[in-house]
Amino acid sequence: MTNATPIVTETAATLPARVPYHLAIIMDGNGRWATERGLPRQAGHRAGVENLRRVIRACSEFGVQILTIYAFSTENWRRPGPEVRGLLTILEMMLDRELDNLDDNGVQLRHLGRLDGLTPNLQQKVLNAVERTRNNDRLTLNVAFNYGGRDEILRAVKQIVSEGIPPEQIDEVLFNHYLDTAGEPDVDLLVRTAGEMRVSNFLIWQAYYAEYYATPVYWPDFDKEELRKAFAQFTGRDRKYGGLSKGSQ
Ligand code: IPE
Ligand code: IPE
Ligand code: MG
Repeated sequence: MTNATPIVTETAATLPARVPYHLAIIMDGNGRWATERGLPRQAGHRAGVENLRRVIRACSEFGVQILTIYAFSTENWRRPGPEVRGLLTILEMMLDRELDNLDDNGVQLRHLGRLDGLTPNLQQKVLNAVERTRNNDRLTLNVAFNYGGRDEILRAVKQIVSEGIPPEQIDEVLFNHYLDTAGEPDVDLLVRTAGEMRVSNFLIWQAYYAEYYATPVYWPDFDKEELRKAFAQFTGRDRKYGGLSKGSQ
């Protein structure tokens, strides 16, 4: 990021009425964005990173506390080698170029998913970024990279079994501690860009009662105003959690 301090343009009157505490985004459509412009898919991924900067800034301005982004799934290894390498390079570039700015802006970086599969050098960069920003508290940015919801749940189960925890002690609170999002509340709003209506193995435990918002807008074009639209819908949602609406008999 080049602008060290976010320029605050919001006033009490323009801020969304209700903002999710924990927002998760499936950043989809980079490839289609590029193809429609006659560009290589990698150009779409680069435009996606540019947009991520804007969205992080907007989240910080709107008062989102936790932003979880889906950057690379355990299934994305199925893509052609050059595209996979391009996505790994983008993660590395982001860590090299953005870390100072994220840190200056109080962003705490966390990694969700498996580090194995990444080069030792990249693994080290991820660990350093997490360690360096661990005391920041303005916004938590969970980067799901080489992440799959099923994989996360299986890793948690294996860890619980290997620690010999008796079954009667296993409840939802304990299980949460073994997930990559340990200590964080569940997802309030799950946004998916680019029109697909599926969850693609993202946060299948944590988003169990999330509100869903899908938009046809491709990720590189999903700007602050699009985020505002998502929050406006979220504001109007009646979150009943299986119960009844507030005020109903
Ligand atoms: C999302 O964009 C980025 C990743 C999955 C890494 P896509 O690359 O999936 O874009 P589309 O869906 O092909 O348009
Ligand atoms: C989901 O997008 C994964 C990420 C955004 C990282 P995909 O484009 O990989 O998902 P599918 O293949 O459409 O389900
Ligand atoms: Mg896609």
